[in-house]
Amino acid sequence: MREELISLREEALRDIAAVTNTPAFERVRIAYIGRAGRLTQAGEKMRHVPKDDRPEIGKLLHEVRQVITGALESRAAELRAAMEAAELSGVDPTLPGVAFAAGYLHPLQMLQKQVVEIFRRMGFALAEGPGIETEWHCFDALNTPPDHPARNEQDTFYLPDGRLLRTHTSTVQIRTMETQAPPVRIIAPGAAYRRDEVDATHLAQFTQIEGLYVDEDVTLGDLKGTLEYFFRELFGADTRVRFRPHFFPFTEPSYELDVRAAALGGGERWLELAGCGMVDPAVFERVSERRGDDAYDSRRVRGFAFGFGLERLAMILFGVPDIRMFVENDQRFLSQFSR
Ligand code: DAH
Repeated sequence: MREELISLREEALRDIAAVTNTPAFERVRIAYIGRAGRLTQAGEKMRHVPKDDRPEIGKLLHEVRQVITGALESRAAELRAAMEAAELSGVDPTLPGVAFAAGYLHPLQMLQKQVVEIFRRMGFALAEGPGIETEWHCFDALNTPPDHPARNEQDTFYLPDGRLLRTHTSTVQIRTMETQAPPVRIIAPGAAYRRDEVDATHLAQFTQIEGLYVDEDVTLGDLKGTLEYFFRELFGADTRVRFRPHFFPFTEPSYELDVRAAALGGGERWLELAGCGMVDPAVFERVSERRGDDAYDSRRVRGFAFGFGLERLAMILFGVPDIRMFVENDQRFLSQFSR
């Protein structure tokens, strides 16, 4: 029995050392220490060992079991390490890692945020309205007569049901006044659509920012002060603004606003950037008919409104020569605005 145990130990150590992969390791493990393995069988033979020899043989059996279990454990660890090393071979840990590009805002989003932020500081709240609009919200309520060229099928996208893609964000003036009583102070950025031939300065979809301020004692001075402050915040303290009389159906009087600033290429050039004016009483009357109350009684409330295109502003400010660049998603263009 003693010789049998000693040769079992030697055989086991040789088999364990010869193992080079996991399936072979499992076979050897089961062959020696499995439930029907050779060590278990040796244990069963203890019954036939003479009583006097049992303490010594028992001790030896225990030692052989410990040696074999220990050898199995360390061989398992060696196999694991070898497998990891094989997986990592060919990987050079001293090479620099893969850099992930961080995201950034589209230049138009960046500028829009900046614009909205300035108006928020003056107490204007963000407002919005639907892109698919009724003719009433887009034109009638804004005092735009049925024969106005903006309503022409050549200039506007109409849906079969008579609704249309809004041609300007002035619709948000109406949407807001329908649901909110004065005082109203809103800034409304959003998409506007026109049936324009796409070229370097026109897109069929572009972005407008609309503003509206209605209260009991709003004056033309408030309009001028607000827009002058806004453009100075955006373009710098040297900015000068000029209000040039114009016509819009929904404001009276109406102006086009020209701006001059070093940030806009400097020089003596006045750039036409926005339309604005005092809300025409006819607009308050349309809204009042809808609301069925006198919250917008045109004898009591006054307002000013303004609107401008974001793309045009961005083109001038960032020196972008072609409006189509904003929608082409060319990383070589867009990445120039990341910071
Ligand atoms: N809605 C006008 C346009 O698309 C821009 C505009 C002009 C908006 C004057 C206004 C305004 O609110 O008062 O050309």
